[in-house]
Amino acid sequence: MSKRPFYLTTPIYYVNDVPHIGHSYTTIAADALARYKRTKNFDVFFLTGTDEHGQKIQKAAQSCNKTPMEFVNAVVGKFKTLWTHLDISHDDFIRTTDERHCLRVKKIFQQIFENGDIYPGEYEGWYCIPCESFWIESQLREKKCPECGRAVEKVKEKNYFFRLSKYQKRLLEHYEKNPHFIQPESRKNELLQRIKSPVEDISISRSAVEWGIQVPMDQTHTIYVWIDALLNYITAVGYDDDMQKFQKYWPASVHIIGKEILWFHGVIWPALLMSLKIDLPFKIFAHGWWTIEGQKISKSLGNAIDPITIIQSYGTDAYRYFLLREVPFGLDGNFSYGALVHRINSDLGNDLGNLLQRTVTMIEKYFHGVIPEATGADDELRIASQETYERMDRAMDELQFSRALEIIWEFIGRANKFIEEKKPWMLAKTSAARPQLAAVIGTLARAIKDISVFIYPFMPKTAEEIQRQLGVGEDNRPLCLEFHQGIKEGTISRKGKPLFPRIEPL
Ligand code: MSP
Repeated sequence: MSKRPFYLTTPIYYVNDVPHIGHSYTTIAADALARYKRTKNFDVFFLTGTDEHGQKIQKAAQSCNKTPMEFVNAVVGKFKTLWTHLDISHDDFIRTTDERHCLRVKKIFQQIFENGDIYPGEYEGWYCIPCESFWIESQLREKKCPECGRAVEKVKEKNYFFRLSKYQKRLLEHYEKNPHFIQPESRKNELLQRIKSPVEDISISRSAVEWGIQVPMDQTHTIYVWIDALLNYITAVGYDDDMQKFQKYWPASVHIIGKEILWFHGVIWPALLMSLKIDLPFKIFAHGWWTIEGQKISKSLGNAIDPITIIQSYGTDAYRYFLLREVPFGLDGNFSYGALVHRINSDLGNDLGNLLQRTVTMIEKYFHGVIPEATGADDELRIASQETYERMDRAMDELQFSRALEIIWEFIGRANKFIEEKKPWMLAKTSAARPQLAAVIGTLARAIKDISVFIYPFMPKTAEEIQRQLGVGEDNRPLCLEFHQGIKEGTISRKGKPLFPRIEPL
């Protein structure tokens, strides 16, 4: 049977500046979902990339005396390096300066024009360069950008407009018929409020910006960077010259984004697709924002920590775990080193690390390193493992990563308690209890093997290390979910260093 496709995306990030925690958060979340879906045998296509055109980048390049192309080439490397350090398993990385993208965007723009949804006009209003967004006077807050609070500039330009107003009714119908199209619920409601009042047509070209893709029917304009950017989701999968690939993966299963760009994804993007007569994606999930030690992450505050600095001290998996465990996906969160260290010491060191260490030590001590069969063991942990998997699966389907981790940690707690209850050190005292001892240790080893499978989407390296210590054969890594499989008779464990040695609190 052919595998079911699952296409997921992150936003494509601006390359005016280097990546920070916020960017890494979205990409790690998407990676966890991609890995999870692969374990479930989906044909996953995981896309990320960079948004390289527009006024903001043009300005950033100018200020360091570089051409835009020289400038973006340098920053893109930083994103790619970070994704490698964070074990991001994307299948494609699109750059909006890629030829494949530029050519397709021009064709698509032409199609929308021919469909009668683009017309020339004049724009007079305000523009926020950091957000690359147009605002009308009444939307400003204290004369500043209502999104980021920064200064806006007055713009009066001859532009091309897209008939967004034409799609308002169809959009409302779509939200109504597809209640899960935009998640989480609270953000959907905010968006619905905004789109219930009259929606204006939007400007989709810039005559004052050179760094962009030229409007095909007018060389004095470049395509508005947000239109160029949104189209990456379809150009990357081949629209409209590799239609076999496109038809395989489109509609996207989920676009994961931050809450500040929901208007573009939840309103403008579906309207563009409607104009192109292309099906809409299944889901758009807008997660919350991170602050750092209580403050907004910003270049001017100088608190945009490089994630590589964090992982050099604390490790990739601890960082991935922390971000996805600390805050329910959808809500805002606060990054602090204190909270990170606490999670490492308690959840990762005490709960998970000790469970493995104690078990492998007992395998060595009582069975010379050979993992015993779990015959005759009571079924409790095996059943709990199955239930954990089912509950985790539901949480993952709803992109509730922290919930999924909570469920896994309940099971880890259960396994730790199992040791306390069964007291293997007592069983080891008499040879009559040897079969029970074997059953207890054999069961524990299998429970930990299952835990390694559960944590794999979040902490791939740790999952591998646990399986290595349990002697799980490479052909069964990392996905063997059958309780009694993956650890064959006679498997030899290989004790390693503690997984997460204690870190002194700051
Ligand atoms: N280029 C546009 C997106 C175009 S998608 C077609 C853009 N880029 S961005 O570089 O500003 O990245 C924004 C995204 O980065 C957010 O939507 C979010 O996914 C992530 N984050 C950036 N800062 C963040 C936080 N402080 N907290 C959490 N995530 C945030 O917008």
